[in-house]
Amino acid sequence: MSRLQGKVALITGAGSNPGLGYSIALRFAEEGARLAISDINEETLRLCETAIRKIGAEVIAFRQDVTSEPGWAQAMDAILSKFGRFDVLVNNAGIAIQKPIEELTLADYERQMSVNMTSVFLGTRAAIPHLRKAGGGSIVNISSIAGLVGIPGVSAYSTSKGGVRLFSKTIAIECARDQIRCNSLHPGIIETNIQKGSLTDNPEQYQAIKASVPLGRMGSPLDVANCVVFLASDEASYVTGTELVVDGGWSSM
Ligand SMILES: NC(=O)c1ccc[n+]([C@@H]2O[C@H](COP(=O)([O-])OP(=O)(O)OC[C@H]3O[C@@H](n4cnc5c(N)ncnc54)[C@H](O)[C@@H]3O)[C@@H](O)[C@H]2O)c1
Repeated sequence: MSRLQGKVALITGAGSNPGLGYSIALRFAEEGARLAISDINEETLRLCETAIRKIGAEVIAFRQDVTSEPGWAQAMDAILSKFGRFDVLVNNAGIAIQKPIEELTLADYERQMSVNMTSVFLGTRAAIPHLRKAGGGSIVNISSIAGLVGIPGVSAYSTSKGGVRLFSKTIAIECARDQIRCNSLHPGIIETNIQKGSLTDNPEQYQAIKASVPLGRMGSPLDVANCVVFLASDEASYVTGTELVVDGGWSSM
């Protein structure tokens, strides 16, 4: 398969298995992309790098804290010197701080915004000149259903993900004439490491969550990765500024 043949893509937060970035990176590799993958956790990132090499795709992997402005400049330099071009940015790295509003500290709030929202601003701004030089490209920002509707206990997380949604629409319009597309993707409840503890380690809550999803199951990382492949590919060449919801129907209720 070659839906991303020759495209050079950066996936952030690719070091978690099961995780969305990991799965997106592998699907991109299967579709012919040349990959840069990054994560704050270099040890687990190496496992993703190995899995991509097994598929036979070209890959560079480097430690990156997505909240660091110089880190973004270094990431772009590394990609340009290895591949000579840049086509697709997937802003995936994220954390979820779950606390009732009165227990949420200012430090919690600022950390949540920094990792989930400021990072998307920094990454997008760093990528745009290179996407323009390539004649256009695709930015996929991983938001959440929490960026669409209110969910108790995740006020800062929701704020960050709602911000990603409208930031993406603004960039879509601002950069459209450069043929740079920008979309947000809104996963529902997906079985990854981010859900450990809150859901999957709590059997009762796990069953209740499953029952609450119209399609009757939690999503898999592959469910999300397949949709990111679409948004990154030329099949989505007329799709920009949209919000693609991948939640088994949850937010339609
Ligand atoms: N799993 C879900 O149910 C779900 C639902 C909606 C949205 N999302 C979003 O999808 C994205 C991926 O989530 P996931 O479920 O794969 O989570 P995960 O915890 O499995 O993976 C997240 C990865 O991001 C990395 N990371 C964290 N902080 C970072 C930083 N400062 N710099 C670089 N890397 C950093 C982590 O090391 C980890 O490898 C996140 O943005 C998350 O908010 C997930």
